[in-house]
Amino acid sequence: MARTMVILGGQWGDEGKGKIVDLLTEKAQVVVRFQGGHNAGHTLVIDGKRHVLHLIPSGILHEGVTCVLGQGVVISPQALMDEIDLLNQKGISALEKLKVSSAAVLVLPYHVALDKAREQAQGDKAVGTTCRGIGPAYEDKVARRALRVVDLLTPSLFEQKLEKNLEFHNFMLTQYYKVAPVSKEPILEEAERARKYLSNVITDVPALLATSYAQNQNIIFEGAQGALLDVDHGTYPYVTSSNTTAGGVATGSGFGPRYLQEIIGVTKAYCTRVGGGPFPTELKDNIGKHLAEVGKEVGATTGRPRRCGWFDAVAMRRSAQLNSMTWLAITKLDVLDGLKEIKICTGYRTPEKMWDNLPVDCEQLALCEPIYEIWPGWQSSTQGIRTWGDLPKAARNYLERLAQLVGTPIGMVSTGADRRDTIMLTSFE
Ligand code: GDP
Ligand code: IMO
Ligand code: MG
Repeated sequence: MARTMVILGGQWGDEGKGKIVDLLTEKAQVVVRFQGGHNAGHTLVIDGKRHVLHLIPSGILHEGVTCVLGQGVVISPQALMDEIDLLNQKGISALEKLKVSSAAVLVLPYHVALDKAREQAQGDKAVGTTCRGIGPAYEDKVARRALRVVDLLTPSLFEQKLEKNLEFHNFMLTQYYKVAPVSKEPILEEAERARKYLSNVITDVPALLATSYAQNQNIIFEGAQGALLDVDHGTYPYVTSSNTTAGGVATGSGFGPRYLQEIIGVTKAYCTRVGGGPFPTELKDNIGKHLAEVGKEVGATTGRPRRCGWFDAVAMRRSAQLNSMTWLAITKLDVLDGLKEIKICTGYRTPEKMWDNLPVDCEQLALCEPIYEIWPGWQSSTQGIRTWGDLPKAARNYLERLAQLVGTPIGMVSTGADRRDTIMLTSFE
């Protein structure tokens, strides 16, 4: 029987999803992105070589794998073509493996202009978006005016729809935000290039996935961002504009939810966040700086420094519930090497009450003080360790406590950026 696996972020993104997807693709024939766009930055390190993917699924480095962008993804034609070109320069022919949903919404230059103008106007209340136009593109989708991949195939219709969109968005840009309008010609040129470039990969994705499943092909669904950035369940309004949680897999790909078997929650052994919004366990001290330095915590898409803090079991418990996680893939254990003590947040405190679950309301979360448990660190290196038994006892105790607090078993532990620096506790045969 075909095996299906959802691999998604359990925190605020950048948990190491790319690495885990790349590794598990050894056992898969299809890898599907179902939400987000080129706001994502997924890093793969293979034999010391680093690859960063934004839109293209992290299975692309394997032979014989079909990489799919489902209709829940928002696609910048320019960003997609650039990424394909970059992979080509490295000798990876992405186009041969790629399928793109005809129903996916396009991200176009006016979305980027709106994203930037809006962030600018919000001042210190800004979300801290990646300024890739992701939010405005999803808004156009639900407003039923978006241009979609299929529109690229009919240039006259594309132009008509584009004109209507530009009329509306340029009004907003010039009259409300007082910034420059976006012109039509460069977008038509981009669309024309994309039509020629992508026409052979435009696909009926639900039909493709149903056929793959019927043919016993193993399918991985690759999440972008993380559960706490989900537009419905995250720390709203400091979230992205898509459903990053497991519920988004079926809508974003057209693959029936009854056939989803395992949900793997990727989480760091500590916590990071990039952009604005509450982050109860954030460390603004030397330990925070240490985690950022050792963990090389710099955004793979925007180059922004990531905020760092202790593992937040309250937030991760919520995330495990939201996603019905089967097991955890805990990454970056090695970053904690050498610390004298390690804290785990087990609850929150506000002046009125104690919390053992994440407040639904972000204003409340901003008031929460973490309650910590303190665990002894390990004074040796876990870098590159590949078996559970080789981990220092203190590291095993720490990981077991995380799993216990989250209520989800551990299936994998990552001890380095490289594909092979991984402890497998689950069989993938
Ligand atoms: P993603 O967006 O979830 O795919 O994660 P990113 O690629 O944005 O960020 C994760 C970063 O951590 C990347 O630079 C990875 O190469 C790196 N990484 C992944 N797993 C490990 C690990 O176990 N140890 C260390 N030191 N780095 C890791
Ligand atoms: P991966 O897939 C971390 C954050 C932004 C901002 C918020 C909204 O690499 O884990 P957006 O541009 O989506 O409208 O920004 O979401 N964000 C991410 N943070 N990892 C990501 O992707 C992210 N994609 C968006 O920083 O706070
Ligand atoms: Mg990332």
